[in-house]
Amino acid sequence: MIVLGIETSCDETAASVVTDSEAARILANRVRAQLDEHRPYGGVVPEIAARAHLETLDPLIAGALAEAAIGFADLDGVAFTGGPGLIGGVIVGTMTAKAIALVHGLPLVAVNHLEGHALTVRLTDDVAFPYLLLLVSGGHCQLLVVEGVGRYVRLGTTIDDAAGEAFDKSAKLLGLGYPGGPLVERAARAGDPRRFDLPRPMKGRPGCDLSFSGLKTAVRQTVEKLTRDGAGLTPRDQADIAAALQAAIGDSLVDRTANAIALFRRRHPDGRTLVVAGGVAANEALRLRLAGLAAARGLAFIAPPVALCTDNAAMIAWAGLERLRLGLTDDLAFAPRPRWPLDPKAAPTPGAGIKA
Ligand code: KG4
Ligand code: ZN
Repeated sequence: MIVLGIETSCDETAASVVTDSEAARILANRVRAQLDEHRPYGGVVPEIAARAHLETLDPLIAGALAEAAIGFADLDGVAFTGGPGLIGGVIVGTMTAKAIALVHGLPLVAVNHLEGHALTVRLTDDVAFPYLLLLVSGGHCQLLVVEGVGRYVRLGTTIDDAAGEAFDKSAKLLGLGYPGGPLVERAARAGDPRRFDLPRPMKGRPGCDLSFSGLKTAVRQTVEKLTRDGAGLTPRDQADIAAALQAAIGDSLVDRTANAIALFRRRHPDGRTLVVAGGVAANEALRLRLAGLAAARGLAFIAPPVALCTDNAAMIAWAGLERLRLGLTDDLAFAPRPRWPLDPKAAPTPGAGIKA
């Protein structure tokens, strides 16, 4: 099977072609980030994102097909992010995918963006179900048991901000800029994580829910204290706070994931794998911490390559391919979904930052 994937749910426009052959699976993987468009505003502006998707998606798809050396007629299906995400962008991707499917008579597959992240390790490493997944991105922060395509059991979720938001908002407070995660990681490399004592949200509490808004507040208070005399933060201050923040987020995620491992084991005594996915999974320090936790608990640890942690269309094409193999397709009446939980049976959690 050969599937075209389209991703437009946030600030990356992406088009990719994947196959389920045993050799090279990713035939093309084009990503155009919108960093220059959003940088003046210090974060993603939904309206600007939607316009940028509209301008760049068609040539990006043409480029991906050319790189894969195929035409539309060679495709077995078109997969696109149908949500959750910024609705303007999701509409652009949905309409484009529908047009291609209609004109070329191809099956259409609406993919949940989160399922794209969740199944990436099956594209890259053939990881077998079931596995425990820590999904950490800019909009989502959840612990899930992945039991099959479309079969997810949510063990915990953030009750306020996502981990990526903590990185992004703190980066802004520190004057590091946008995009926050990679800039905090770079600054943290030169920092002392012990100079500032930041809270470890939820640590030691039962269950697997997460929380990050208190950490953001603590970073703000730390910055305010250091700049009270009107002076700006020094590079050393920036590095030390970044290092403290990264350590606090890591401690919190490891603590919650440890609880999730116990629940996962109870549900699947023969379950063998811990997976991390989503943009924050690109963080090297976090990957090392989680690898350590998995090793201590006798689980294998799998993280996608960094380029497939942040948003891309290979993950959407792959999730579409897996759905297509099971006969799961959508029709032209599909309506874009700003919210789309992976586990619809999970109890709703109060809080502002929850998008699924
Ligand atoms: O999955 P993703 O690309 O988009 C969403 O679906 O949200 O995740 C983006 C998030 C952003 O918050 C970004 O700051 C964070 O992932 N991120 C990182 C790193 N690279 C990206 N966070 C920490 N360390 C990184 N190296
Ligand atoms: Zn994402």
